[in-house]
Amino acid sequence: MKQKIIVAIDGPSSSGKSTIAKLVAKHFNFTYIDSGSIYRAVTYLAIKNKLIKTGKIDVVSLIDLLNNCSISFSFNLNNQNVIKLNNLSIDKEIRTSEISNYVSLVAEINEIRKYVLKIQKDISYNKSVVMDGRDIGSVVFPNADFKFFLDASLDIRTSRRWNELKLIEKDLKFEEVKKDLLNRDEKDTSRKFSPLIKSKDSILIDSDELDITEVVDKIIDIIKKEITNK
Ligand code: DC
Repeated sequence: MKQKIIVAIDGPSSSGKSTIAKLVAKHFNFTYIDSGSIYRAVTYLAIKNKLIKTGKIDVVSLIDLLNNCSISFSFNLNNQNVIKLNNLSIDKEIRTSEISNYVSLVAEINEIRKYVLKIQKDISYNKSVVMDGRDIGSVVFPNADFKFFLDASLDIRTSRRWNELKLIEKDLKFEEVKKDLLNRDEKDTSRKFSPLIKSKDSILIDSDELDITEVVDKIIDIIKKEITNK
């Protein structure tokens, strides 16, 4: 078996990437990396330092700040990845709706993408990883050993996300969640640098008719077949 395996999982928001990537990584004992959390951490830093004003980001100051701080990952007691800013966990802080609202704005800046790319490469330097995101198979690891593109219809993704969010935001409307997802899809697919695309050599998995276990099993089977033949 090859020493180091890279598994790229891309797809739109709420297509189930992180849940599936985590389970695949656990099965093979690979490291799971949630690349969206790095963009969220940068957004958190920008908001905290008031570098986003009226929808505009002070990119020069943000890059300067980033060059003087550290964004890293560590493992908690459940062997789960925790993102840290200057060695402090910010895992909860990056999941707020404020961060979700601004993160696409931050993720479209090329200088920021270059900064995040370096973190992604450094983390994966000497280990097997399952990394999820929007441009993993197309830009970050164009030579990944396995590339998957997870998709599901807008209605299915909306209802999954709505069911999750309803637990905390009781009055949240289905249509509101749908609009937000549509907006994020639009931003992620139309931005100039590293837009969300399905690279030609990635395997498309449409999960409209599949549950989590079925998707995970499908991915595990594909990887197993390939690595046991090498
Ligand atoms: O997966 P997520 O929703 O936590 O990602 C947050 C944002 O980061 C999302 O709007 C798109 C962006 N992102 C990106 O541009 N490239 C990646 N590889 C991962 C996330």
